[in-house]
Amino acid sequence: MTDPATTDLSKDAAARAAVALVENGMKLGLGTGSTAKVFVDRLAERVHAEGLDLRLASTSQATADQARSLGLVVYELDDLGWLDLTIDGADEVDPDLSLIKGGGAAHLREKIVATASDRMVVIADQGKVVERLGKFKLPVEVIPFGWQSTRTHIERALTDLDMADRPIILREKDGAPIRTDENNYILDLDLGEIHDAPALAASLSAIAGVVEHGLFLNICNLAIIGRPDGSVVELRREDLE
Ligand code: A5P
Repeated sequence: MTDPATTDLSKDAAARAAVALVENGMKLGLGTGSTAKVFVDRLAERVHAEGLDLRLASTSQATADQARSLGLVVYELDDLGWLDLTIDGADEVDPDLSLIKGGGAAHLREKIVATASDRMVVIADQGKVVERLGKFKLPVEVIPFGWQSTRTHIERALTDLDMADRPIILREKDGAPIRTDENNYILDLDLGEIHDAPALAASLSAIAGVVEHGLFLNICNLAIIGRPDGSVVELRREDLE
């Protein structure tokens, strides 16, 4: 098991490297989760130290609240239109820079913001890097209306993809379904291994009650993997093409 202190140092290393990518005048998307939180802390330090003029959009209410508490101005995405760069965490990163996101239930807004950006950079610790996606339960945001029918459709889709009988778990907190920023539910798919992520993504997207799944395919341009000694390893999409 990874030592939490080691993980924190790794997140800080990745966040610092990502802050160095920010340029004055940029329109920047802010991610969600513990790694993105460290990034926002480091970003605020740089903004105040250098007087950077940035236009920020957030992927969640939690991150917007954090940024504002640090004296940063956060805009609505639609006030900014297209963004130059979005920096966010991930739950899993594979060698093709395909991701699982949504552990913090924010993957819908995260995907909207990332795909409205010229570039998406992921920051993570080594524990997020996997050979194949799927050990982390895949979050799927669903409409509360008829969610059990939607779950049945997901079961059928998984069966068609040779993933029958995989647990599908309604995410709850204090005995009640958690609600996303868009007031939807989350189903977590315990898949073990995903052998054909594009086929799974297409099948899930075709189900009426599914709002968005946590597979991010061909979206991330660069992954910055932090190490406890403060160094980072970078994996770039251009290197894959
Ligand atoms: C939020 O819904 C997620 O996509 C996060 O970006 C992801 O879970 C990474 O979070 P941590 O940095 O806390 O691991």
